[in-house]
Amino acid sequence: MKHQIEAPILAHFQRNAYEFEIILEAPQIAEESRPGNFVQILYDQSFNPYTRRPFSVFHSDPKSGRISILYLARGVFTKGLRDKIPGQKLSLIGPLGNSFQPSTKLNVSHILVAGGVGAPPLYFLAREIKSDPFNECRVAVINGARTQDLLIAVDEFSELGAEVRCTTDDGSRGVKGIVTDVLKEMLEERSGEACVYSCGPTPMLRTVGELCVQQGVSCQLSVETMMPCGMGVCMGCVVKIKDSSNETGWAYKRSCCDGPVFQADEIIWE
Ligand SMILES: Cc1cc2nc3c(=O)[nH]c(=O)nc-3n(C[C@H](O)[C@H](O)[C@H](O)COP(=O)(O)OP(=O)(O)OC[C@H]3O[C@@H](n4cnc5c(N)ncnc54)[C@H](O)[C@@H]3O)c2cc1C
Ligand code: FES
Repeated sequence: MKHQIEAPILAHFQRNAYEFEIILEAPQIAEESRPGNFVQILYDQSFNPYTRRPFSVFHSDPKSGRISILYLARGVFTKGLRDKIPGQKLSLIGPLGNSFQPSTKLNVSHILVAGGVGAPPLYFLAREIKSDPFNECRVAVINGARTQDLLIAVDEFSELGAEVRCTTDDGSRGVKGIVTDVLKEMLEERSGEACVYSCGPTPMLRTVGELCVQQGVSCQLSVETMMPCGMGVCMGCVVKIKDSSNETGWAYKRSCCDGPVFQADEIIWE
């Protein structure tokens, strides 16, 4: 169920050059959020910027009623967001969208592939997988960005005990190259079954998805489309999905409510 609330900002701090975290009091959203869900944020009533924007839930703590959001301050919306201070409120609608469905099989290798601001929902997923006391499976994270200042949540993934490999296009941290170089190696090295979960820019998701489909590896992708309404109304977020019940063989699905998480083998890339 989605809620529209005015959420007080409890804390707001800078984590590195461009990365910020906001902690919000949002009990209903904290209670119901699942990894992959997002909230639509509007930060003042002047409607400037005019539309809400989607941000993934990074941390959700039902006990304290708090959620947190991680973002990179780079454009008009996020630079405005950066100026908000504790005590002010943000208008939130959420939790929205579907969620990752981690495999519950024993001894499966979970490989999480994050690109830039795709890391927050994957951290939530990693925390959930790691919290299962009956399934001590391998969790590996490949966290990529153009340069080290744009890598997100690197320390948190390590603190969870996940195996973390970073990639940067310029080699400033970790492997110089792209996440799929490392994913190829990991899939080749794997001994048993693997499940891949990924969130990041569309070209990255496409390469991750195609690699997994070729190798017959189960793969869930959280797409980052523009989401003008986030509520299933405007059709501004559609992706082409295979649909055998349709005579064309495909249908447009709304990534804000039918997604944002889709199976890699059902997406038709254009
Ligand atoms: C499901 C989902 C989860 C996301 N989670 C995160 C997250 O956890 N952290 C994070 O940092 N980013 C996240 N994003 C991306 C984030 O919503 C956008 O990057 C952010 O709104 C862009 O803000 P900006 O200040 O960088 O750019 P801006 O300068 O404000 O916008 C860049 C360009 O995009 C256009 N645009 C972008 N979104 C919209 C929209 N909704 N309506 C109209 N125009 C739009 C603007 O007109 C402009 O041309 C997520 C996106 C999706 C789809
Ligand atoms: S964002 Fe409007 S229908 Fe999905």
